[in-house]
Amino acid sequence: MKKCVILRGVAGSGKSTYGKQFYPNAYVCSADFYHMYDVTQPDGSVKSEYKWDPGKAGMAHSNCMNDFIEAVSKGVELVVVDNTNIRRYEFQNYVKLARVFGYVVNIIEMTLRSPDDMRLCAGRNQHGVPEPVVQSMTDLFEPAEALDLPRDVQVKKVYIQRPAVV
Ligand SMILES: Nc1ncnc2c1ncn2[C@@H]1O[C@H](COP(=O)(O)OP(=O)(O)OP(=O)(O)O)[C@@H](O)[C@H]1O
Ligand SMILES: [Mg+2]
Repeated sequence: MKKCVILRGVAGSGKSTYGKQFYPNAYVCSADFYHMYDVTQPDGSVKSEYKWDPGKAGMAHSNCMNDFIEAVSKGVELVVVDNTNIRRYEFQNYVKLARVFGYVVNIIEMTLRSPDDMRLCAGRNQHGVPEPVVQSMTDLFEPAEALDLPRDVQVKKVYIQRPAVV
């Protein structure tokens, strides 16, 4: 059965880590791939580095959607969408398209329990998203249960893993 996994969660909530851990062989679509730039290192080697450019955000999301359409129209067995998907409008078209192409849709919601979880995400996110922005993502996040999604769309809540206290 062809499956589409839509990851949701604020920056640093662990979406990409979860995707790599549980769906290592998936075809991944992400707007983040379109914020990568080749940067020459002091030793002369060239490394691809992430730099978020607000002017390119629209293009990045559009390219991500194009990648997704390409994958589901070809019938790729497992497709993961790895964007923050904070609000319904950001992911609803992925759900619709996946269903049209006969995919089972799973939504994985990285879930915060407290302001401490929000600060953990702000501190550990690797894209340089500052705490006030992570806070605003947290405030704007629309939980799937509030969204009246089609019944056959499964939603799984994954709670943020806190480092063990020793
Ligand atoms: N379950 C976990 N246990 C320990 N550390 C984790 C876990 N999940 C994520 N991390 C760490 O948190 C950091 C951010 O994780 P990750 O990049 O997966 O988040 P993200 O939600 O994809 O963020 P972004 O929206 O910025 O892409 C990484 O350094 C990662 O190693
Ligand atoms: Mg990520």
